[in-house]
Amino acid sequence: MPPMRHPGLLLLLFAAALLAAPLSVAAWRPWPPRNETSAAAAGGLAGLAASKKFEGSSEFVKLQYHMGPVLATAITVHPIWYGPWPASQKRTIRAFLRSLSPSPPSNSSSPTVASWWRTVRLYTDQTTANVSATVTLGAEKSDARMSRGARLSRLDIQAVVRDAVSARTRPLPADSGGVYLVLTSPEVAVENFCGQVCGFHYFTFPSVVGYTLPYAWVGNSATRCPEVCAYPFAIPAYVHERKPEAPPNGDVGVDGMVSVIAHELAELASNPLANAWYAGTDPSFPTEIADLCEGIYGTGGGGAYTGQLLTDERSGAAYNVNGVGGRRFLVQWVWNPVLSYCSGPNALDQ
Ligand SMILES: *[C@@H]1O[C@H](CO)[C@@H](O)[C@H](O)[C@H]1NC(C)=O
Ligand SMILES: *[C@@H]1O[C@H](CO)[C@@H](O)[C@H](O)[C@H]1NC(C)=O
Ligand SMILES: *[C@@H]1O[C@H](CO)[C@@H](O)[C@H](O)[C@H]1NC(C)=O
Repeated sequence: MPPMRHPGLLLLLFAAALLAAPLSVAAWRPWPPRNETSAAAAGGLAGLAASKKFEGSSEFVKLQYHMGPVLATAITVHPIWYGPWPASQKRTIRAFLRSLSPSPPSNSSSPTVASWWRTVRLYTDQTTANVSATVTLGAEKSDARMSRGARLSRLDIQAVVRDAVSARTRPLPADSGGVYLVLTSPEVAVENFCGQVCGFHYFTFPSVVGYTLPYAWVGNSATRCPEVCAYPFAIPAYVHERKPEAPPNGDVGVDGMVSVIAHELAELASNPLANAWYAGTDPSFPTEIADLCEGIYGTGGGGAYTGQLLTDERSGAAYNVNGVGGRRFLVQWVWNPVLSYCSGPNALDQ
């Protein structure tokens, strides 16, 4: 059976090809890119707060719809594990991905990961079709031996996706609704990782991969820059006022990745071809629905304050959503287009 392309995406292939210059559309920056000298000069936390988005800053935000597709049909996430990944870490990330759909029997107590995804479902396309409620864990691929080496450019990430969908044995399906999630282990250096980005999303070029497939990359920052990419489970050394939160699955790198994965999936679903939902006038540097809320995890969040979190009574860990199998996760909020502010299921005022 020939693989199908996303029906909505196919129409926009030509337009997408014209926009080919930038590779990434999302750069997640939990802390301003500031070194110790300049941070001290800016006065520690007060300085850090300066570039953060605030929960109630709606009048400044001009989120717009640019007529492109959203992921309105059932979404299947295909993880590609690049580098050595312990089984326990894979289990945590799989559990998060399995928690996104309101799958019966839903046995998680409120607030749930699926209720967090409900905000993403508020985004619609030209036909008024919403982002799909269904997000399932699809086939997976492992590249533990790092076939493209331990240093990857952004283009290499696309090549990793191509390798996975064109593999001789058990290729990942290039199917309608498929999104491809390249997850790199701590060994792997990725272009701009830690300095500017913790993850990004984009779509593959038909000329390179054969299809237009939305994909994202998220790196495990545990040994490289947890204070940049695993906030608030790690805090920069120069911020003496703050102690890191305990991670709900006991793994700073992976618990930090979960929120970045959530960020990228929310943006992939609402802006898969970089021509649907974003703020700002330049599609090369859009501000997308999760960018608007980075660093905000609960009521009152903004600046260097995460907002009101929940505390796991067993471990003391910080979390804000429940998932399958009794798992807990901390995920950032996303922009709510109905309320015109960042929202999440653990909000105190709903
Ligand atoms: C740190 O910031 C200061 C002040 O902005 C600058 O002069 C210095 O070159 C920076 N150091 C590094 C290593 O970037
Ligand atoms: C649902 O949750 C209850 C209480 O936490 C637990 O006892 C039960 O085994 C769970 N059921 C399933 C199907 O997971
Ligand atoms: C679809 O999006 C519209 C507009 O945001 C919203 O009013 C509606 O509740 C959404 N439907 C679902 C099922 O989420």
